[in-house]
Amino acid sequence: MPRTRNSQKPAAPWWSTAVVYQVYIRSFADGNGDGVGDIAGLRARLPYLRELGVDAVWITPWYPSPMADGGYDVADYRAIDPTFGTLAEAEEMIAEAHALGVRVLLDIVPNHTSDRHRWFADALAAGPGSHERDRYVFRDGRGEGGALPPNDWRSEFGGRAWTRVTEPDGTPGQWYLHLFASEQPDLNWSSREVRSDFEAILRFWFDRGVDGFRIDVAHGLVKDHTLPDLGIADDAVFEHEGGKEDHPHWDQDGVHEIYQTWRKVAESYAGDRVFVAEAHVREDRLPLYLRQDELHSAFNFAFLKSAWEPNVLREVIDRGVRTPAEVGAPPTWVLSNHDVPRHVTRFGRGDTAFGRRDEGAAVTDRALGTRRARAAALLMLALPGGAYLYQGEELGLWEVEDLPDEALKDPTWERSGHTVRGRDGCRVPLPWSGSDAPFGFGPAGGEAPWLPQPGEWEYFSAQFQSGAPASMLELYRAALRLRREQPGFDSGTLRWLDAPEGVLAFERSPVLRCAVNFSGEPMPLPRDWGVLLTSDRITGGLLPPDTTVWLWGGGAALR
Ligand code: GLC
Repeated sequence: MPRTRNSQKPAAPWWSTAVVYQVYIRSFADGNGDGVGDIAGLRARLPYLRELGVDAVWITPWYPSPMADGGYDVADYRAIDPTFGTLAEAEEMIAEAHALGVRVLLDIVPNHTSDRHRWFADALAAGPGSHERDRYVFRDGRGEGGALPPNDWRSEFGGRAWTRVTEPDGTPGQWYLHLFASEQPDLNWSSREVRSDFEAILRFWFDRGVDGFRIDVAHGLVKDHTLPDLGIADDAVFEHEGGKEDHPHWDQDGVHEIYQTWRKVAESYAGDRVFVAEAHVREDRLPLYLRQDELHSAFNFAFLKSAWEPNVLREVIDRGVRTPAEVGAPPTWVLSNHDVPRHVTRFGRGDTAFGRRDEGAAVTDRALGTRRARAAALLMLALPGGAYLYQGEELGLWEVEDLPDEALKDPTWERSGHTVRGRDGCRVPLPWSGSDAPFGFGPAGGEAPWLPQPGEWEYFSAQFQSGAPASMLELYRAALRLRREQPGFDSGTLRWLDAPEGVLAFERSPVLRCAVNFSGEPMPLPRDWGVLLTSDRITGGLLPPDTTVWLWGGGAALR
């Protein structure tokens, strides 16, 4: 079972300090040569993850799916898509990960199903007013003959959040709600049957040994049943009112009751089973999700969205520690995931702003972005609490911004009328080895990867970087090893230290400090502290710009 941390202190639950590695399964490793990642590929790479030093993996949806949204359109929550493998392989993978000391989190998608889920087919066939329709959000349209959608809500991927169906008798019929693609009908969480089925799904996977779930769109399940208009213009493609207080379909109070029940399900199992929420909510509302009888943790998206700017980051870090602490939950940190531009690219832009090129972001200086990504990794991994890594960040991969239009798969591309390219650029299959595409992503002679990889990734493969001391991979390996083995990292706190303008410095324990130099000038390091790790070379006792250092001292021995 999972490794224990090296400490004499009373053991904090594993998840409160865990480093969790996100596996976007389509793009991680392809075992059978069809150009798409799968369970066989993941199993073959478990030793790599163990060597990297992560505590757990979070696997994005691997269930049967028409893949209208990369698997976040689930047709059956109790099985595995044949593209990815079989249930037996999934069970073997879970056991193998555990044998290596790596825990396994799955992704559960409760806000919506696929339109190919049996429930949705039944709802279409059964017609208006039926019990089958009540599992989703069906409504009559407005206007003459119900030809207009029930309200003005917008899909997150662009366009209307409603699609009209044809009734079993062939007439134009009701509309159903989909806050994402039209292939992702929203479930009705007032339905007892929906609730009890999801509890059964959790048990299905807990019974198979999974250690927890990442909850997709955790803030979206409950809607204001009066479905009030938001006041969005008829021709708007996207809603730009996300910050609205008391939003009728985000962060409704009714979601909490659901998670209280889920917590009881998790606690009915031995071992520490956990939930992590993807909840895009106002920061002051986040603790509601993290109450002791609710979810264990939630992603800190403020950190992921922050510019590379010391004052902003200091504030974000303070809040990131303080906010969950209000309800006794640990902080968590994340720099990248499968929905956002990779941070090498973000940090290489003049304004380091969050956003994509087609949303007006500046051109990238990749060398600068890489330097900052190295510094950011050491900053994140020095903070108290847990951290989430997105596959490929340990290789220093960047957002692929020049994918050909015809290769794009993200539903946003079509739904925005080809104005927003979407999230494919961070989902390009990983390079593992060799000098020709697919760089070990799949077996030689197999199909090309589902998205094309840049030729330069020859020099970014895991094999190329392994053993190269200056590589991103070796930096992550060293950081994770020290984080596991050195005293100081398991304290739950952080204390800011006085530092020159443009430098963030903090103490994690009397023997462990971290400093990040955001200024344009080299910064002298204290003489009486030893250097544990740096994100870039230190010469003459000076910490260069855009570099992080971990320092040890206070008379403690180095392990
Ligand atoms: C979450 C996922 C994203 C998906 C969406 C709809 O935000 O992270 O990838 O498209 O939910 O399920």
